[in-house]
Amino acid sequence: MPYELRKGQKAVNISVLCSGSGTNLQAIIDSVRSGYIPAKIALVVSDRKDAFALERAKKAGVETLVLNPKDFRSREDFDKEVVKNLRARNVGLVVLAGFMRLLSPYFIREYRNKIMNIHPALLPSFKGTCGIKDALEYGVKVTGPTVHFVDEELDHGPIILQRAVEIKEDDTPETLLERVHAEEHRIYPEAIKLFVEGRLKIEGRRVRII
Ligand code: GAR
Repeated sequence: MPYELRKGQKAVNISVLCSGSGTNLQAIIDSVRSGYIPAKIALVVSDRKDAFALERAKKAGVETLVLNPKDFRSREDFDKEVVKNLRARNVGLVVLAGFMRLLSPYFIREYRNKIMNIHPALLPSFKGTCGIKDALEYGVKVTGPTVHFVDEELDHGPIILQRAVEIKEDDTPETLLERVHAEEHRIYPEAIKLFVEGRLKIEGRRVRII
């Protein structure tokens, strides 16, 4: 995966954490491969051995790690094992892509302002695990994905990018998901690229692109 670093730019190793199908992981893999994101995916971590994301990673030649939460006494013990593996690979950015586990305060402290998440609704609306269905059922006319930094509160940290998606009269969760995903696959690589290039500056709750 060749790419050119600009003068003075440091290479960033990223790790993607997934639990499911991994369409966002695929968009990130493709963006690294094309050189759009100047970074290396050092490790893909999953808490589910059957996550299709693992197949995508293997196909791309990216190292994978599966950890079963049942093998750990606590959330923090699980996270300690993840962090140990990230540190061993010099990971500088953690990307949550459909990772359906809450991170412990320990993890967030260790990687403060270096963890990103993508959510399928315009935060702070429709937090939680059903962002698409909740927006549709509420009857909003516009929704769309949010990329944000992760802090101790669920779906709460400073917002990096959002993209609006109009809801149509005849939308179902499936048709809406398809259009939200298409936008996710654009803004997640964009946000990662901005981070890797050192262009995100957090000021309180606001993230400035410099
Ligand atoms: C994405 O739509 C992401 O926004 C959502 O999980 C999906 C994962 O899809 N995340 C959340 O709902 C987090 N609250 P993917 O595995 O195909 O990338």
